[in-house]
Amino acid sequence: MPSPRPKRPLGQVTRGKTAPNRLRRVDVFVLLYAADLLRQPVPEARRAFFVDLGYGAEAFTTLESAERFRVVNSDLDVLGVEIEPERVAVALPYADERTFFRLGGFNVPLEPGETVRLMRAFNVLRQYDESQVAESHAVMGQCMMPGGLIVEGTSDPFGRVWTANLLRKQHSGELRTEGLLFGTNFRWGFEPGIFQPVLPKNYIHRMVEGEKIYDFMEAWKAASRQAVAFKAFGLRQWFIESARELARQGYSLETRRSFLDKGFLLWKFPAP
Ligand SMILES: C[S@@+](CC[C@H](N)C(=O)[O-])C[C@H]1O[C@@H](n2cnc3c(N)ncnc32)[C@H](O)[C@@H]1O
Repeated sequence: MPSPRPKRPLGQVTRGKTAPNRLRRVDVFVLLYAADLLRQPVPEARRAFFVDLGYGAEAFTTLESAERFRVVNSDLDVLGVEIEPERVAVALPYADERTFFRLGGFNVPLEPGETVRLMRAFNVLRQYDESQVAESHAVMGQCMMPGGLIVEGTSDPFGRVWTANLLRKQHSGELRTEGLLFGTNFRWGFEPGIFQPVLPKNYIHRMVEGEKIYDFMEAWKAASRQAVAFKAFGLRQWFIESARELARQGYSLETRRSFLDKGFLLWKFPAP
């Protein structure tokens, strides 16, 4: 069980920009990918939270996700965490017996008997330095229960185009990166380059030859050129065929229709 609430929140206050429904598509992905985790009984914990870390100036994203995720688990405990005290005060009137808001940082403020099954941290690390990412992930991982998932990413202001690191807490206690996710609702067209401005902080400065994200994006661009005939059937079909072409080239991708149809491309990283 985690120790009592830590005293000093780790991290820094950043801009609080958010918007209603900004993370709706991320929630759609979570419900597709991790509904079992949201439902899973955790009898050893008094509360096993979904945590929305860094919800911003207003708690739209926390409250919206609470509503969406409670469709699969009506008893789900939800915790919004903010490092900026005023933003906690603004959210507190929306708290109830299953919805909590607390001042905190990457070292999520938990009470005895509480744990975290799922954590989302969106548009938080983009305002940090790249050198702070690995340590921030490691600290976030400390509060997670074994099997718990962290979805840490970046979106455009409307949540139309976004990417996320998927990090899984192992039973050994380690945090393992299990994939890099790309999401689009096709409103901004499609070609792989649209994801570059919203790559997670650990990739966005690495779009240079020799880096694995660069090779991946170049291969995806080439695959999309090969699949361009499918553009005639719409952007979604083009996206789907570009992913299939990329998979044929050997990249480990989630190619089920249930993912691709929704505009989700998941690049799966092998276990070490
Ligand atoms: C741009 S807002 C993102 C809001 C929301 N997640 C979204 O995507 O719309 C980033 C928020 O993260 C908060 N933040 C930054 N570092 C944090 C940390 N280490 N722990 C908790 N909150 C943090 C900032 O204070 C800010 O309000």
